[in-house]
Amino acid sequence: MKNKILVTGGAGYIGSHTCIALHEAGYEIVVYDNLSNSSREAINRVSTIIGQPLAFIEGDIRDAESLRQVFADHAFFGVIHFAGLKAVGESVAKPLLYYNNNVSGTITLLEVMMEHNVKNLIFSSSATVYGDPNTLPIDETAPRSCTNPYGQSKLAVEHILEDLSVTDKSWNLISLRYFNPVGAHPSGQIGEDPNDMPNNLMPYISQVAVGKLEKLSIFGNDYPTVDGTGVRDFIHVTDLAAGHVAALDYLKQLALCNNDAIGFLPINLGTGKGSSVLELVNAFADVTDQTVPYQFTDRRVGDIASCYASADKAKTLFGWQAKLSIIDMCKDTWRWQSMNPNGYRAP
Ligand code: NAD
Ligand code: UD1
Repeated sequence: MKNKILVTGGAGYIGSHTCIALHEAGYEIVVYDNLSNSSREAINRVSTIIGQPLAFIEGDIRDAESLRQVFADHAFFGVIHFAGLKAVGESVAKPLLYYNNNVSGTITLLEVMMEHNVKNLIFSSSATVYGDPNTLPIDETAPRSCTNPYGQSKLAVEHILEDLSVTDKSWNLISLRYFNPVGAHPSGQIGEDPNDMPNNLMPYISQVAVGKLEKLSIFGNDYPTVDGTGVRDFIHVTDLAAGHVAALDYLKQLALCNNDAIGFLPINLGTGKGSSVLELVNAFADVTDQTVPYQFTDRRVGDIASCYASADKAKTLFGWQAKLSIIDMCKDTWRWQSMNPNGYRAP
């Protein structure tokens, strides 16, 4: 059976960690990335970690000709599709860019996959598709709604995948809804490397701790939560990477048993446990022995109070569950940040 996987966006934060997990699980990988939010250095470092060169093609998912060539050159079992833009604020400023990149790009990828009869896809979705949830923990049947173009682009792709699965019953389309990925590879060689000012909490904390930023602003301390700050389901990126391998193994098993295609399958990847912003900040300071100065400011527009997953479906279907703790997430983030204060860029 074919063992080769195309990993779009594989030079990015989650993609690079997943490449290592895929390699360790015995999959052959080809990364396809336009490096719009990543660097070749990430590919070099993954190559060092896995002890062999990682196959890498620089290209854009909106470029059908380039994708056709890749599919002509390689016989893929399936595609893990990370490629996308992910900054919520930027998506509000540049909605057309986000719809073009994330939605049109995915349509082009699906068309080329169809031409080459490759019908196994694992898509990077987000807990953002649940909007402000009515009930917690959030399971996969919860209603979906989004308020910003980034979230809308994820939701639009989910609708496209659902529609496709109705028309053509031979697709296996898994939509992995990530909660809040944080942490880094335990080697400290790869991690999250925001281009500009970090938007997300963990990279902001670690850049304050390393002295690149002065102070963390905690957006709101009047939410109806344990300590008034927002609650999220932080998940270690290596657990998340393992979730992709588990999803792929599930598809392989289906193919081996000649089972019917599954159509569209949404799955949460979270720990099932919520932690508050303040709990994360305090854990980070404790674990790393660094001070993390912070101030409370107004709530961030568009934020919700609490969000955490029901992770039961991934456990039942894939036998996967997150193993690593908040302590591991903080330790590994700090190792990456302190070893690479400028990320992948030279000092
Ligand atoms: P990332 O920006 O680090 O990685 C995305 C990669 O895709 C980058 O290497 C970028 O260069 C590449 N890319 C973007 N547009 C492309 C295009 N048109 N053609 C080819 N390559 C392109 O982001 P990440 O954190 O690794 O996220 C991966 C995926 O998971 C994204 O789709 C993101 O929306 C989704 N996601 C991320 C989070 C998170 O918190 N990090 C949460 C939920 C969902
Ligand atoms: C955000 C996005 C979401 C996206 C996800 C992953 C918004 C509204 N949501 O989720 O669509 O899928 O990132 O990219 O942007 N916080 C601070 N100070 C900071 C940064 C964050 O207090 O400097 C707080 C936030 O208010 C929130 C928590 O930390 O309560 C987590 O924030 P963040 O890491 O940005 O993730 P989300 O908002 O959950």
